[in-house]
Amino acid sequence: MSETRRPLIAGNWKMNGLADESLRQMQELVSRARKFDNPGCDILICPPTTLLRELARVAVDSPVRVGGQDCHANASGAHTGDIAAEMLKDSGARYCIVGHSERRTDHGEDNTTVKAKAEAAHRAGLIAIVCVGETLAEREGDKTLDVISDQVTNSLPKGATSSNTVVAYEPVWAIGTGKTPTPLDVKAVHAHIREELGKLMNDAAKVRVLYGGSVKGSNAAELMAVENVDGALVGGASLTAEDFWPIVKTGI
Ligand code: PGA
Repeated sequence: MSETRRPLIAGNWKMNGLADESLRQMQELVSRARKFDNPGCDILICPPTTLLRELARVAVDSPVRVGGQDCHANASGAHTGDIAAEMLKDSGARYCIVGHSERRTDHGEDNTTVKAKAEAAHRAGLIAIVCVGETLAEREGDKTLDVISDQVTNSLPKGATSSNTVVAYEPVWAIGTGKTPTPLDVKAVHAHIREELGKLMNDAAKVRVLYGGSVKGSNAAELMAVENVDGALVGGASLTAEDFWPIVKTGI
């Protein structure tokens, strides 16, 4: 991790969590984090929207932040089942994930949609965590860097800066599979992302680029030590404070 970019260790709970148990896990995470006056990283939990307000309340005045997992491009309107970035902000969110590969796959979101969602997050005053990553077929076809270039270039809106945007590199084949790229592969993609960011914004050197995909307590330190890796986006291992904490510790 770099001296100049403050790491972000983010948990993405996806569609997991009912109130009682989730509250317990958040309380445990917050109480561990409160022991650090001045933690060396930002800590984030993106729970299901139903839990956002309550978890934000538990985390108030602590180093732990909450965020959304997705948002609609519009601020309001006739969009049954969708949630606006402004609503997430209103519920206590500081961040919003956009373009997660599960959204790209399950909901057919393309770069244009993702860009509009990132713009919406910015409009609402949220930090957008824009996810990019190649599929296994793309990696095996030696297309990783091209896919990443395309996603970074076309998913980031004008107006993206190091203060309102985080990029998360999540190889699709590494998500929830227990497989991770080698540190050398991660290094190559992160360097490439930073280079692409340099073409799009003035403060590319300050943008945090997270790694995500099967991050666990046992591999976090190795992955976080890779050049240009500024934190992690963690799925399965963020669901309990016990599993998430060793990952947070690599940044704290
Ligand atoms: P995983 O998920 O840590 O369970 O692989 C990561 C993600 O999808 O953000």
